[in-house]
Amino acid sequence: MDKSQQNVKKIKPFDIVVFGGDGDLALRKIYPALYQRFEAGQLNVDFRIFPISRKLNFEESLINSIYEFVHKSNQIIDDETFQLFKKKIKPLYIPSNKVDDFLELKSMLAENVNYQTIFYLSTPSSAFGEICDALNRSKLINAKSKVVIEKPLGTSLATSQEINAQISNSFLENQIYRIDHYLGKETVQNLMVLRFANHLFEHSWSSEHIDSVQITVAESLGVENRGDYYDKSGALLDMVQNHLLQLLCLIAMEPPSILQADFVRNEKVKVLNCLKRYTNETAQTDTVRGQYSRGKVHDCEVNSYLEDLKKYESNTETFVALKVFVDNWRWKNTPFYLRTGKRMPKRYSEIVINFKTVRHNVFPIQGEIPGNKLIIRLQPEETIALVQMTKVPGPGGYRYKPISLKLDYMDTFKEKLPDAYERLMIDIIRGDQTLFMRQDELEAAWEWIETLTDAWKVNAQRNILYESGSWGPGDKILNSGHIWSTSSSNHENKNI
Ligand code: BG6
Repeated sequence: MDKSQQNVKKIKPFDIVVFGGDGDLALRKIYPALYQRFEAGQLNVDFRIFPISRKLNFEESLINSIYEFVHKSNQIIDDETFQLFKKKIKPLYIPSNKVDDFLELKSMLAENVNYQTIFYLSTPSSAFGEICDALNRSKLINAKSKVVIEKPLGTSLATSQEINAQISNSFLENQIYRIDHYLGKETVQNLMVLRFANHLFEHSWSSEHIDSVQITVAESLGVENRGDYYDKSGALLDMVQNHLLQLLCLIAMEPPSILQADFVRNEKVKVLNCLKRYTNETAQTDTVRGQYSRGKVHDCEVNSYLEDLKKYESNTETFVALKVFVDNWRWKNTPFYLRTGKRMPKRYSEIVINFKTVRHNVFPIQGEIPGNKLIIRLQPEETIALVQMTKVPGPGGYRYKPISLKLDYMDTFKEKLPDAYERLMIDIIRGDQTLFMRQDELEAAWEWIETLTDAWKVNAQRNILYESGSWGPGDKILNSGHIWSTSSSNHENKNI
C-alpha cells in the first residue's frame, strides 16, 4: 500500500438523515458534495440518504431539484452515475417531532443496524434541541451516531450555550460536528501545510519579524434572500465570529504536536483566549462598521441594504473592519486587521502577512525598502505569492522593485479544487473532527465577540454608509482608525 494511504481511515457504510432535506443548504451543498464524492469513487460503500421534510409531497420535486443543483456544481453529469446515486435517496415526510412520526425512519434505519447514522441538521438552530430530543425519545441514537450542525449557533454566548446544552442531552461531544465551511476549503487547509511543513517561515513567524497581518473576505453579493436571518446577525456574527476568527487562529496558533482533532483544537482555543478584549474606547478607535447604500456592482445598479430588506431603518452592519491583537509571546503588538463586507466590487478572500522592512538600507537611492509580503489568496484564483525586492536589470546602479514568486494552485495541480463540503462530508463519515469546532472553541470566540457587541451597545456606535461597489467606508475613516483605507488595503493587489 502507498505509504501516504496507511493512516487514512476507511470509509464505512453509512446512512445520512438530512433534516431540512429540501432546503437551500441541502440542495446547494450537501447533495452535490455527496454526489461529487460518489462520482469520484470515494463513496464505494453501501450508503443511503434520507432527506426529511415537513412539507407533504415534497418528494415529487426533490429528485429534480437535486439533479438541477448537482448539475450547477458539476457541468457534466454522467447520467448512469446519477441514476445509481438517485437509488440511494429515500425522501421521508416527517410532519412533527412526535415519536410516532419517526417510526418509518426508525424501521428503515433498523434495516442496516450496523451502519453509522449521521443526522445532519440543516435547519434553523432553534430547531436543533427539539430534533435531537425527538431522535433520543425515538431511540434512534447509539454510540455510532453523529450529529452535524451549521452556524449560526446562537446569537450570543448564552444562546449558544443553551443550544449546546440541548444537543448535549442527546449526543456526546465526540459525536457533534459543528461546521465552519471555511475550514473545508483547500486553500485554508493549506495554511497548516504552509506553516508547519516549511522550515522557511517558522523563524520569521512572530511579531519580531511581522509588522501586521491582514485578513480580508470581500463579497460582491448583497444579503440576497437571507434578509431575515442576516438582519439579526450582521457581518460581525455572520462572518467574523466564525470564518475570520478561524483564519486568524490558523495564522496565529502554535504548531500542534500531532495532527489530531483535539491537539489542533487546543491550540486554536489558546489563540482565542489570548485575543485582546475590547473596551468602550478601543471599540471606538479600533473598529468600524458600515452598511451598503445603492451603487453599481459588476456594472449593474443595485439596491441599498434597506431597500433589499424593504425596511426603513436598521443598524445592522454589512461591513466590519477590526484591529485585533493576540496578546501572547509570539504576537505581542502585531495588529491583525480583519475586514469583511458585502457589496464590494468583487469577491475575494485573502491573507497578507506584511513583514518588517530590512534593518539597514544599503540601497538608499530609492528611499525606504518596502517589507516582504506573503499574500495568500484563498478564493477565487487560489494563489500564494511571496513578494520580494528584485534588482531591475540594467547598468544604472542598484534599482529594485517588488516581484512575486508565485504558486498558482490551478496551474500547478491542474484539477478542480473540491468544494469545502466534499472534504467536510468525508471527514464526518470517517469520524475526523479536526476541521470542526469544539464547544469550548465556540464559547471562547463568543466571549471575545461579546466584548465588542457590548461596547458597540454602550457607545451606540452607528454604521457608516458606503456605496455598493466600493471597498467600504475606507476613506471616511482614514484619519480615525487607519483600519480600512483604500490606499493601505490589499485589494487588487498588484503583486498577485
Ligand atoms: C456564510 C455566510 O457562512 O459564508 C454568508 O453566512 C457568506 O453570508 C458565506 O456569503 C461566504 O462563503 P464563501 O464560501 O462564499 O466565501
